[in-house]
Amino acid sequence: MPPITFDIERARRETRGCERAIHFNNAGSAMTPAPVADYLYEYLRDDEVKGGYETAAARHDALENFYKATARLVNGDPDEIAFVENATRAWDMVFYAFPLGEGDRILTTVSEYGSNLIAYLQRARQCGAEVVVIPNDNYGQIDTTALEGAIDSRTKLISISHIPTGGGLVNPAKEVGRIARAHGVPFLLDACQSAGQIPLDVEELGCDFLSATGRKYLRGPRGTGLLYVRREWITKLEPPLLDQFAADLLDAETYVVREDARRFENWERYFAGQAALGVAIDYAMSWGVEAIWERVSTLAARLRAELADIREIKLADEGEVKCGLVTFQHARLSVGDVKDRLAEHRINVSTSSGPGMRLSYLARGLEDGLVRASVHYYNTDDEIDRFVAAIREM
Ligand SMILES: Cc1ncc(COP(=O)(O)O)c(C=O)c1O
Repeated sequence: MPPITFDIERARRETRGCERAIHFNNAGSAMTPAPVADYLYEYLRDDEVKGGYETAAARHDALENFYKATARLVNGDPDEIAFVENATRAWDMVFYAFPLGEGDRILTTVSEYGSNLIAYLQRARQCGAEVVVIPNDNYGQIDTTALEGAIDSRTKLISISHIPTGGGLVNPAKEVGRIARAHGVPFLLDACQSAGQIPLDVEELGCDFLSATGRKYLRGPRGTGLLYVRREWITKLEPPLLDQFAADLLDAETYVVREDARRFENWERYFAGQAALGVAIDYAMSWGVEAIWERVSTLAARLRAELADIREIKLADEGEVKCGLVTFQHARLSVGDVKDRLAEHRINVSTSSGPGMRLSYLARGLEDGLVRASVHYYNTDDEIDRFVAAIREM
């Protein structure tokens, strides 16, 4: 396939924050594109001057568009989509609904997101289920042979992060999905860092549930998240929390839960954010997630190659396939110092410390954390040069 060309000038023109900073913190929260931000401001303005209920009614189609856009993004159907306030709660709504009992096993990965691990441990404590952490292969990603070997009659769920929070690794989700399907085990995919960065197709991925956030590679507003639940699972899972939107109270003793994925939603929510996330997803898809992935992975590969030439820098990314997250340590400076010094050059990065990826960091002796520089398609080679120059200067 010939390389996909990208109109970088337009991408930057439509990213007002590019003028102020080199934003390599897209895995934290990407810069919102101007058309998405303007939509959000207009919506909030309508809330202010027209009334919240009135605005929601007038913008009904835009609120519905969130479901349609998300369905297109993941190749599901709109009634399999829920709007949730963040990726963690979206994931929780499925995980805590999932029936687990004494001796049931959840299979996960070393690079699993910290909040997910806490949830596994909590439920293990509450109901006697067992958490099995599948070892990594030589690339540092989930060992799919070990995963397949670990499945037995007690295995009730396979649950992994596609891209972990603190590293460049892309877990082989498709192969995990193939194994899950072959053994009839449900598969929950945390696609928080991959949505908007890597093409996602729930059929190809073989996942039954997928959660993601709005603010990272989708470039949506903060405080937004999404959930996909495969149709056959929707009515099998009673959400851990129900309100009168998710369920209908028929009389003093009877309620019926909705039959679509909106049973995992709240009635009161960030309406402006929901509509704007729909706009952000449409915007991402107008660039093409395939094209975004090619550009992001190419920029990140270049950044890694440049950093590899600096004696004081130790790169930390694992994985056979690497993404837009570039993580490293400096031989003499703490990760916090590196972040602060970059900020003096108006370069934004984040630091990744223990909690997000506790098991992986403990196993690799990374208790001091890592600097995480995460690029998006609107970043440029020139920005990479300035970033590398700033690191060399340290
Ligand atoms: C892999 C992964 N899962 C889940 C989350 C949580 O997302 P949110 O903050 O939207 O709940 C993150 C956030 O960094 C993440 O990296």
